Amino acid sequence: MGRRSLPKIKGSLELSRYFIPLLDEYAEQGPYEAETAELFGAEGVRAQGYDAYAGMSFEALSERLFGRVAPTELEIGSGKGLFIAAATKRSPERNFIGVELAYRYALTSASRLAKQNTPNGVMFSADAARVLRDIIPLNSLVGAHIYFPDPWWKKAHRKRRIVRPDVIQMIEERLVVGGKLHFWTDVEEYFKSGVETIKLSSNLAGPFDIPERKAEGDLDYLTHFERRTRLNEAPVYRSYFVKRIG
Ligand SMILES: C[S@@+](CC[C@H](N)C(=O)[O-])C[C@H]1O[C@@H](n2cnc3c(N)ncnc32)[C@H](O)[C@@H]1O
Repeated sequence: MGRRSLPKIKGSLELSRYFIPLLDEYAEQGPYEAETAELFGAEGVRAQGYDAYAGMSFEALSERLFGRVAPTELEIGSGKGLFIAAATKRSPERNFIGVELAYRYALTSASRLAKQNTPNGVMFSADAARVLRDIIPLNSLVGAHIYFPDPWWKKAHRKRRIVRPDVIQMIEERLVVGGKLHFWTDVEEYFKSGVETIKLSSNLAGPFDIPERKAEGDLDYLTHFERRTRLNEAPVYRSYFVKRIG
């Protein structure tokens, strides 16, 4: 995604409770840390290691992130944050954790949450595979969302795709029974191989179809990529899976 279109973030926002940058060798840190410190003061946004949140119980993690325990959903690769911003508003009784690898996008998503004052959402700037492995407790999520994940077109890079067996297994283990995994993409080949990967590497029920919703305004799209794809009149492939008992 091009960075030019990212909105300017206001320094007056109180961001520290919405934005949690975690140190990762792949995450984009560096220049943005200085910018963030300038805007919000270094104290509130200093990057931490994954172990600052690792191995906590669901209750302890929920209290730490949100100050309350509530049904929790995870979004992997939030991009500019349209989904998590709308979801936190629509479902104030739920907690939402967004994970976005690109620091500047995570910051943009967090600033949306701060602007609309929805403290039931937080953004980790981090690698979702590590957040799943180290931070998200087993049997803790009522929903997991993967929308328009990077397709990594080159064959040699396919193993970097987020819909891959180890990540799917971690998601299944972290969903509660009846919890849903949502997977949408505009790449037909990724959709077919992704659905196959989910079926082969988990015991999740599905895929179940999701009908397209009529869109009248910008907020009727689930994510920025869904909006872009549909305005280009290209197809969107949607599915969800459900965790079974046992
Ligand atoms: C194509 S964009 C889609 C963004 C958004 N979901 C949408 O539909 O508009 C994919 C996003 O996933 C992020 N991403 C890629 N790998 C990731 C990972 N391992 N953990 C977290 N985010 C990741 C990228 O930085 C990028 O912002």
